[in-house]
Amino acid sequence: MKLTDDLLKKFNEQITLEFESSMAYRQLAIEADAQDLVGMASWLRHQADEEIVHANKFIDHVLDRGNHAEIGAIGAPMVERGLTPLAIFEASLENEVKVSNAIRDLYRETEAAGDLDSRPLLNWFVDEQIEEESTVNEIIGRVRLIGNDGAGLLRLDAELGSRSVGTTEAD
Ligand code: FEO
Repeated sequence: MKLTDDLLKKFNEQITLEFESSMAYRQLAIEADAQDLVGMASWLRHQADEEIVHANKFIDHVLDRGNHAEIGAIGAPMVERGLTPLAIFEASLENEVKVSNAIRDLYRETEAAGDLDSRPLLNWFVDEQIEEESTVNEIIGRVRLIGNDGAGLLRLDAELGSRSVGTTEAD
């Protein structure tokens, strides 16, 4: 079943937000790389790729339902220069919370419109956001524990750098 015009607009906004989220992670990766935290930079770039996967999932859903997906204007990432490693991951969490709220809003809109077809996709995203926030929260906790211990920071950096490479395809 086709999306209503209102829902299509919301789905297109979510697609745009996922691409913005990807760009935010790319910028945060640059901030980490600028401090020679190459493992963290790599982790953040993988996260940026995962946001493209998210955008592609929404795009596929819109197209599969006979609508036309459209990417909107991508805003520049609001990332300050010289963030500490802790601030980098706090900014990541802030980004994820923003995306989670947008997913919940989208879910409410689809439910209000009785759009059952989008439920499986949005359920997947609700679960995904719980996992993403939890992962970033865990990293924040560990960076806090490390404090000013340079060796500890380098160990975490190496661990985050070992994240396996994924694909940007939706499936
Ligand atoms: Fe697409 Fe990390 O939310």
